[in-house]
Amino acid sequence: MSSKPLAFIMSTGMAVPKKVLTNHDLERMVETSDEWITERTGIKERHILDDGEVISTYAIEAGKACLSSAGVAPHEIDLIICATLTPDFLMPSLAILVQKGLKAERAGAFDLSATCSGFLYALAMANCVVSCKPSSKVLVIGAEALSRKTNWQDRSTCVLFGDGAGAVLVGRAEEETNSGIVDFILGADGSNWELLTLKGGGSAFPPFDPRLPKEDYYIRMQGREVFKIAVRMMEKITLELLERNNLNPEDIDLLIPHQANLRIIEYLRERLNLPKEKVMVNIHRYGNTSAASIPIALHEAILEGRLKRGDLVLMVSFGGGFTFAGVLMRW
Ligand code: ACO
Repeated sequence: MSSKPLAFIMSTGMAVPKKVLTNHDLERMVETSDEWITERTGIKERHILDDGEVISTYAIEAGKACLSSAGVAPHEIDLIICATLTPDFLMPSLAILVQKGLKAERAGAFDLSATCSGFLYALAMANCVVSCKPSSKVLVIGAEALSRKTNWQDRSTCVLFGDGAGAVLVGRAEEETNSGIVDFILGADGSNWELLTLKGGGSAFPPFDPRLPKEDYYIRMQGREVFKIAVRMMEKITLELLERNNLNPEDIDLLIPHQANLRIIEYLRERLNLPKEKVMVNIHRYGNTSAASIPIALHEAILEGRLKRGDLVLMVSFGGGFTFAGVLMRW
């Protein structure tokens, strides 16, 4: 195990839109079935933005809940990092809208783009900020509105995604405990980037570019190939993180994997030989909320009383790009 952690998650919060889209609703939209979706993904329903809603509303709500739970005032925050690939606007950033919404007048703010690994990338950055300047308080938010980038005619992707936001406040680890962020791994591999894309609207293909098929203004994915990379990399990152800290899978008290597909989570659980109660799963209620999935799962794990002081928590994710990340922490 490395030296005493310097940064700690002080509190968590989450917020999701009220509107729920069930598998039965999807049966009326594309040729699919509740049975297929449940069996192939584990998802039963997902929350999505209603017409006219924006994801910043939920990012701000999650941030407020997180600060209130820690008893920290907005003016005490030094930095806001929002992990997202679906901000309200390209400019200003989502983090700036959160800074305004929270009235966090002293905070710097920026967005971080690392797809579904974005939250863990941002958490690793917050860890570094607090380690450099221990008085810092960093609000890390994963917030995503994938429903706005979903092709609702494509049954192979539209059943997967949901919207929502999760937040954590990162500050100095408490002196008298060993609690805090122990280690992290951030990884990337661009060699298969074309398996999972959202091409339209960037500078290569500005909006309404006639060269681009309209499907490319939405998420496109070769699911089966992505699945294979996901299971391989989630296992690799987890084992590497454990090994370099002289830990074994059985030392994990709670594994919080990115919630992309229950079969991916189950595969990882079996490879690590972990019992079900050591793996956090809430994909059935939210679908894949990308950068929001791990902070939402962490928040719910705390609400369910699944974490106690001293527990070893391992969070692991993968996403488009491809990106990979793992964070090991002592609760
Ligand atoms: N309902 C019914 N049938 C469907 C549906 C659907 N919603 N979607 C696909 N099918 C059909 C296919 O057309 C195919 O039919 P065929 O055999 O006649 O051609 C059959 O089901 C099997 O299709 P596969 O794509 O092979 O199904 P698979 O078991 O791989 O499941 C899935 C698809 C769920 C997408 C899976 O591959 C997966 O989860 N992949 C990983 C996705 C992921 O985790 N992405 C994460 C990143 S997201 C991000 O970064 C924003």
